[in-house]
Amino acid sequence: MTEKMDREITLDLVRVTEAAALTSSLHLGMGDKNAVDQAAVDAMRGMLDYIEIKGTVIIGEGEKDEAPMLYIGEKVGTWNEDDDEYDIAVDPIDGTRLVAFGLPNAISVMILAEKGKLAYLPTFYSYKLAVGPELKGLLDIRSSIRENLRVAAAALKVPVSEITVVVLNRDRHSRIIDEIRKVGARIKLIGDGDIAAAIATAMPDSGVDIYIGIGGSPEAVLAAGALRTLGGELQVQLWPQSEEEKGKLIEDGWNLEKVYYTEDLAGGENVLFSATGVTDGDFLKGVHFYKGKAITESIVMRSKTRTIRRITTYHDLQYKTIRLKSTEGDLKLLNINKKREDYMGGGI
Ligand code: FBP
Repeated sequence: MTEKMDREITLDLVRVTEAAALTSSLHLGMGDKNAVDQAAVDAMRGMLDYIEIKGTVIIGEGEKDEAPMLYIGEKVGTWNEDDDEYDIAVDPIDGTRLVAFGLPNAISVMILAEKGKLAYLPTFYSYKLAVGPELKGLLDIRSSIRENLRVAAAALKVPVSEITVVVLNRDRHSRIIDEIRKVGARIKLIGDGDIAAAIATAMPDSGVDIYIGIGGSPEAVLAAGALRTLGGELQVQLWPQSEEEKGKLIEDGWNLEKVYYTEDLAGGENVLFSATGVTDGDFLKGVHFYKGKAITESIVMRSKTRTIRRITTYHDLQYKTIRLKSTEGDLKLLNINKKREDYMGGGI
């Protein structure tokens, strides 16, 4: 990855996550999770085509047969002869349900790294522990919740009752939640969106110290991409869903005891990360529409220099165009919005 090149494409990445956030936000609160995802995927795929890179999707919407766009192995970018080659991980929307129901903390995310530097995790879910820079290297995903909270409280020099842990609100986490409650730490249960939750642990003033629990494996790699720059840490273990899956993984030579650390997940000299808020969240505002403009908030990071940029963009709905892959054309955001009114039943 050349210095000149990766500096130039950081803004291109923001355009990609902005486009996905904008088009998906047109479905805010409509109750249709698939429409949210499709709108984001279409815009993300369309905008990726503009970037002068040889890109390969390593983490995307799934295997080629199930996913018509942004499937694993799909080539994106211009693929000119002198373009640099990158691996890409995308989550067009982390928290599709959140957007469908107008709830907080949904983001559009992508990362880009040198070829071969993003991990492939074979399980749908993994067990994750994320912390910010102050707790980096101190906790251990294999230790008990009680022990980790004891170490965290000592390191942060606060009583355990001042530590906030974020956990996805799922039945599979009842034991973890019970243990956190017994020790007396604060708990924030979230409905969805564990990339934002893991990143929040490393953002000053987020009010979150630890993220723990079982969530999607792709989301782990994307969160690691941000934690590289933020100086935080992610620890991950594979989490098979059945004895059968477990047996198969062992047979295939996977080590279920292995702990993957941040750099194992998103490695290499430089990882670029971009996220745009779709609904208001802990560290990014969502897409706001106001008098003919859409306002987006994004964060873009380069791990090599540890530069973090926050970008607020004002998009004029009359002029703003987004390239959708499905139509292979630049469409005015206003017209995409109009299409949604038609789709929903005609508008007013
Ligand atoms: P989607 O937006 O892709 O549905 O993912 C949302 C999410 O909450 C992730 O942030 C998280 O890693 C995963 O789903 C948890 O999976 P599940 O909802 O199956 O518990």
